[in-house]
Amino acid sequence: MSRVAVLKGGRSLERQVSLKSGARVEESLRRLGHEVIEIDVGHDLVDRLSAERPDIAFVALHGRDGEDGTVQELLEVLGIPYTGSRVSACIRACDKVLAKHAMRDAGIPTPDFFAFRQTAVRSLGASGALPRIGERLRFPIVVKPASQGSALGIKFARTADDVPTALIAAFSYDRKVLLERYVAGRELAVSVLEVDGQPHALPIVEAVPEEESFYDFESRYQIGRTRFICPAELDAPVAARVQQLAVDAFRLLGCSVFARVDLMLDGETSAPFVLEVNPIPGLTDTSLLPQAADAAGIGFDELIARIVAAAA
Ligand SMILES: Nc1ncnc2c1ncn2[C@@H]1O[C@H](COP(=O)(O)OP(=O)(O)O)[C@@H](O)[C@H]1O
Ligand SMILES: [Mg+2]
Repeated sequence: MSRVAVLKGGRSLERQVSLKSGARVEESLRRLGHEVIEIDVGHDLVDRLSAERPDIAFVALHGRDGEDGTVQELLEVLGIPYTGSRVSACIRACDKVLAKHAMRDAGIPTPDFFAFRQTAVRSLGASGALPRIGERLRFPIVVKPASQGSALGIKFARTADDVPTALIAAFSYDRKVLLERYVAGRELAVSVLEVDGQPHALPIVEAVPEEESFYDFESRYQIGRTRFICPAELDAPVAARVQQLAVDAFRLLGCSVFARVDLMLDGETSAPFVLEVNPIPGLTDTSLLPQAADAAGIGFDELIARIVAAAA
């Protein structure tokens, strides 16, 4: 049995989800017989870790600081073993622009895109290139901050008129913004779990919006607005391809132990496109990784036990 520090909360915009993930992980760790040290991540993080000297840190953070390698870097410095992906994979996965370039270079399909830095808009007249982006990607396009989660700052632009407002919204979250081709189709999530050091795809989850609204899609993330189906009903070859792509993306970005890959399946061609890889997906009771694990016969406590064992 180990002394496990659960790192949760923090100052990320996904703080509330992280607190829920953390609480559920703590209950599970206690059931598994571990001693739990609860840490709401803040200014005293290093002091607390130095004082407590846990055997393992369970990183239940999402978004900035927790998922982007910042906290992982500190844990490396302090010599505390931690759960999930290493620093470099977190850095690659959390930056959607970096991750999409890597995927495109490696032949993993991801929607066509261009990226803009705020400095290019301010100092290089980049807004003059916006009409060209519209022509190259074709509308509708999706505008999103390079590093953010839980659909924060994501806007759909149906026409060129929508782009400036969408850009301003995205720039309020990040200095780097992604403009991406919109894929009309089905939304899938594939959780990947390492077994004996080899990544395996868990059953696919499909997110089905109850009421589709092009603009107000943030509402999809509110409880009850989205239904989740696991395993997703897909033809076997499509499912196999989607799962293989998830494993390929996991490997490409160098993830460890677990991650969740978000994809879109083109409604007409059934061609899959990887949107992003989440190195620390949600672990709440409505989250997709626990659902997928459950569908594979891996209960929540077993999932947590495996993640902790891999860290130790
Ligand atoms: N190119 C796209 N085409 C269609 N829908 C998209 C696209 N990009 C994002 N979305 C929608 O927005 C959601 C969030 O996008 P994602 O890239 O996964 O960012 P995050 O989950 O980090 O906020 C997706 O699950 C999907 O519903
Ligand atoms: Mg996502």
